[in-house]
This record gives sequence, structure tokens and C-alpha cells, in this order.
Amino acid sequence: QGGISDPGLITLVNKLQDVFTTVGVQNPIDLPQIVVVGSQSSGKSSVLENIVGRDFLPRGTGIVTRRPLVLQLINREAAKTNGVETEIAAGNDKEANADEWGEFLHIPGQKFFDFHKIREEIVKETEAKTGKNAGISPAPINLRIYSPNVLTLTLVDLPGLTKVPVGDQPRDIERQIKEMVLKQISKPNAIILAVTPANSDLANSDGLKLAREVDPEGQRTIGVLTKVDLMDEGTDVVDILAGRIIPLRLGYVPVVNRGQRDIDNKKAITAALDNEKNFFDNHKAYRNKSTYCGTPYLARKLNLILMMHIKQTLPDIKARISASLQKYSTELAGLGASLLGNSGNIILNIITEFCNDWRSVLEGHNGELSSIEL
Ligand code: GDP
Ligand code: NA
Ligand code: MG
Repeated sequence: QGGISDPGLITLVNKLQDVFTTVGVQNPIDLPQIVVVGSQSSGKSSVLENIVGRDFLPRGTGIVTRRPLVLQLINREAAKTNGVETEIAAGNDKEANADEWGEFLHIPGQKFFDFHKIREEIVKETEAKTGKNAGISPAPINLRIYSPNVLTLTLVDLPGLTKVPVGDQPRDIERQIKEMVLKQISKPNAIILAVTPANSDLANSDGLKLAREVDPEGQRTIGVLTKVDLMDEGTDVVDILAGRIIPLRLGYVPVVNRGQRDIDNKKAITAALDNEKNFFDNHKAYRNKSTYCGTPYLARKLNLILMMHIKQTLPDIKARISASLQKYSTELAGLGASLLGNSGNIILNIITEFCNDWRSVLEGHNGELSSIEL
């Protein structure tokens, strides 16, 4: 699986979010959304799919992504405490992938265990709103994926930036898509994955250009170079990686996704990730820096950025936790033990225990966090 690994701090944040949801407190940690921008067919959907480690997004040449897809990944450990797992185990124990499933906001309650069916539903729901002839819509499709192999975070797939209308597209398609993208990447907690195919000129990158409009300092933009395998013989992205072309504070990560033929041949994602590793390990321009290349490195980098974000929001989180603790203690005292029985105390214990866990893990992570170099 190519999914993001799960260090202790983020597991803990998952738990924190879960406990707070359970007791009905508003989410104390606003985790960043990771938003992909880039021109049409630059490889945005492919990159997201590789990060998740499952095949489920429509990909291909031309305009395939025609509505924003807001993809909430939910670590299954979190779902378990809400009783979801029991339900699965009882009703669907014959399913091959019973530990991972998707659910759409527009079809509440229906669990998709077959990821190919998730893709079909995305296509169907896209066509329902936009027709079959290349039309677009800013109305997002909301999909949740529950899995033990993902971090609880939100990824947003968007239509690619394009210039000339085709099919049923409006005359001002360029402006409409640009607005759709800007709306997503303007949010201060959006991490922008600016996707540029390595076989075209970086100076022409629509993704980087738009990212700069909302993040001029490059504080939250990561450059992703796709199609490194399709570059002309004798050319490479070494100068870009070294920051000699258009420097980005968070740098660039080169990746190799599946090509159209791989998609047509239904090449598995695991095979694609092996292929990517082989490519960078054996290429003479990259082999001495192959640990900084490819999807797993990109995933780790996103992970570190998430941790940095959590670290930055810590003072605020701490304040909110103690405020909630105080509020609950007062409320519980007011209600009296007889009314609530044991459940009030249980909730209070969970929160207290959580705060203790959380404190020790953060202290444990402090050194590591301050030495992170992105
Ligand atoms: P999007 O329109 O930006 O979402 O791009 P897609 O992910 O749909 O990919 C567009 C096309 O480019 C598909 O045919 C992919 O197979 C192909 N593609 C994407 N990334 C790569 C890559 O790294 N290498 C190769 N050879 N093809 C790629
Ligand atoms: Na495409
Ligand atoms: Mg796409």
C-alpha cells in the first residue's frame, strides 16, 4: 500500500478528533486540506490516488475531473470507536475489503467496499450534474474513505486549468475553473500541491502561477513534478529540485504515475509504485537522491507538514481542551451524579486521559518536531 504512514502524533490527533466528536465538541484541530492544482491532464488525480494507495479516481486524457471532489480520509481506528466496525463485521464479513470502504454524502448510509464502484459512482454523479459532454460544475462531490491505512485528512481534487472551451463547456471556462480553484486554495490552511508535468516548461506552469497568487511567499505550496518518465532523453529535473529554476520553500517532489496505457491495462497501484521506485533508483540523474523522489516521499513530506501545522496550532488546542474540561466539569457537577449515572464521569475520564496521553506524546515529539526540515 502506498498510503501515508501513521506516526504517533497524528494517531493521537485522530483520537482527539474522535473523542471530541463523541462528546459533541466542535473539532478542536482544523487539519489542513490538501488541494491539487495544475493544468488539465497534468496528473493531479493520479497523484492523489497514489497518495491514498487505492484505485478509485477517474483519470485519463481530456477533462475527466469535472466537479471538485472533496475526499475525506478517515483513519478507521477513529471509526471503530463509533461502532461502525461492529456493523461491518456483522453485515459484510464476506467482503474482501471489509476494512476499507467509501461513503458518499449524496448517498448516505451506503458503504462502497469495491473501489471500482466508487469510481463508477464519481463518474455517474459527475454526469448527473454536468452531462456527458465535458461540462463542469463547482458543486463538490463529497466522498469519505474509511481505512486503517490512511490519515484523517482532507484531499481536494479539482478540474484542471484549461483555456479553450470544448463540448458543453461555457465560453468563460478558463475563468470558471480558475475561480473554482482559487476558492479552494485561498483558505489559509490549504496545502497546495502545484502539479506540473516534467515534460513541459516550469515557467508555463498554470498550477504554480495560481499558487503564487494566493501564497506569494510559498509557505504552503509544494511543487509536484509528474511524468518524469516521459522527459526527453538526456533531460532531467535536477535543476528544478535544486531550486535553481523557480525556488519553493517546501521544494519539489518528482513522481512517476501510471501512463494511459497502464490505466487501459488496469495496472495495479502496487505495481505502479514499484515501477516508480525502480525508475528513480536506477536513473543516473536521480539514483543518488532517490530517497527524495517518488510518491512515498511526497506522502511523508505531507505528513511532516501536517505535524508542523499541529505544532503551530498547539497553544490554541491546549486552550480549547482546558476550556472544554472546565465546562464539562462544571456541567457535570451541576447535573449531579444521580442524573447522569456513571456516563458523565466516563466522558470526563476519557477527556482527562486523553489530555494526559496527548501531553506526553507531544513532549516526546518535541525534539523531533523542532528539528524537522522540510
Ligand atoms: P489530471 O487531469 O491532472 O487529473 O490528470 P490524470 O491523473 O487524469 O492523468 C492524465 C493523463 O496523464 C492520464 O492518461 C495518465 O495516465 C497520464 N499520467 C499522469 N501522470 C503520469 C506520469 O507520471 N507518467 C506517465 N507516463 N503518464 C502520466
Ligand atoms: Na485529465
Ligand atoms: Mg483529474
